[in-house]
Amino acid sequence: MPKKRLLSGIRPTGSLHIGHYLGVLRNWAKLQNEHECFYFIADWHTLTTKYKDTNELQGDILEVAKDILAGGIDPNKSTLYVQSAIPEVAELHLLLSMVTYQNWIHRDPTLKDMVRMLAEDEEKAKEEVTYGLLGYVVLQTSDILGVLGELVPVGKDQVAHLELSRDIARRFNFIYKTDLFPEPKALLTETPSVPGIDGRKMSKSYENDIKLVDSEEATSKKVLQMITDPKKIKRTDAGEPKDCQVAYKHYEIFADKKILDIVQDECKGAKIGCVDCKKRLSGIMNNYFCEIRKKRTAFKNDKDILEILDAGNKRARQVVRYTLEKVRDVMKLRTWG
Ligand code: TRP
Ligand code: SF4
Repeated sequence: MPKKRLLSGIRPTGSLHIGHYLGVLRNWAKLQNEHECFYFIADWHTLTTKYKDTNELQGDILEVAKDILAGGIDPNKSTLYVQSAIPEVAELHLLLSMVTYQNWIHRDPTLKDMVRMLAEDEEKAKEEVTYGLLGYVVLQTSDILGVLGELVPVGKDQVAHLELSRDIARRFNFIYKTDLFPEPKALLTETPSVPGIDGRKMSKSYENDIKLVDSEEATSKKVLQMITDPKKIKRTDAGEPKDCQVAYKHYEIFADKKILDIVQDECKGAKIGCVDCKKRLSGIMNNYFCEIRKKRTAFKNDKDILEILDAGNKRARQVVRYTLEKVRDVMKLRTWG
């Protein structure tokens, strides 16, 4: 199969957790051997909801960059960059907004979910929507089409956005009688859903996450807090891994079949207590993340990270500049000297 242009982005929400690793980074690292990959940190997308407090933003970008690099993205294979370093993406956003019907935006269920999250009360949430948030998908489309991306690895929650990107690309091509833009396809991968230690979805905002940057001790402490089968209180109570919503779920993600058989046997047969069972689990998890964490802590110097990003920014910018020249050309706009 010929190599395709592939693009994906992640919002800089601060240090990434193990759910991000399993759902995003692991997949990105694999794909860079199959395609021509562009990966970026979507700092403008963060502003669509968090524009009021930007104090942490630059630090968060650096933390995410370290996680991405430690997670296996090789800047010699992939182009790793920061969205806001490419002003041409903003220009493309402006131009694409001209061909995007506003009722397409309002139809996007993913955006509706985002709006709902702005406030408890639906009316209040609507009042909080800014022009920038409405443009979320047009901006995302500009990220993709700016590098003429054909494949976009995303989670299920982003599929509706991508449909819209396809609509925008198609409409642009139709109006300006061009085949400049590919219709980008979502690349859906099966990823395990990782529960947080309290059983809700793993998320920084719930404070139930285990971070890539966490130490082994911190990880073990969090694993000990994981909820287990509520019927198993004492070591001598029989448990049921199926009802152990968090700890056993993590076993299923990180342990091999042999270990799973042992856990099944010991849990059901009341041969082990949950504390010991979870100690074994944290050992397995710490082992799994050992290499990544070693790499992660080796990035002491922010200057090294900034240099890597600088090089990626330059490369990505060249590609998007080229696209913009073509866009202006088919729209009969001038590229001023
Ligand atoms: N919206 C994506 C998210 O929240 C991030 C993102 C921004 C993105 N632009 C993109 C993903 C372009 C894929 C392609 O995770
Ligand atoms: Fe879960 Fe292990 Fe306790 Fe069984 S023994 S309930 S698998 S933590």
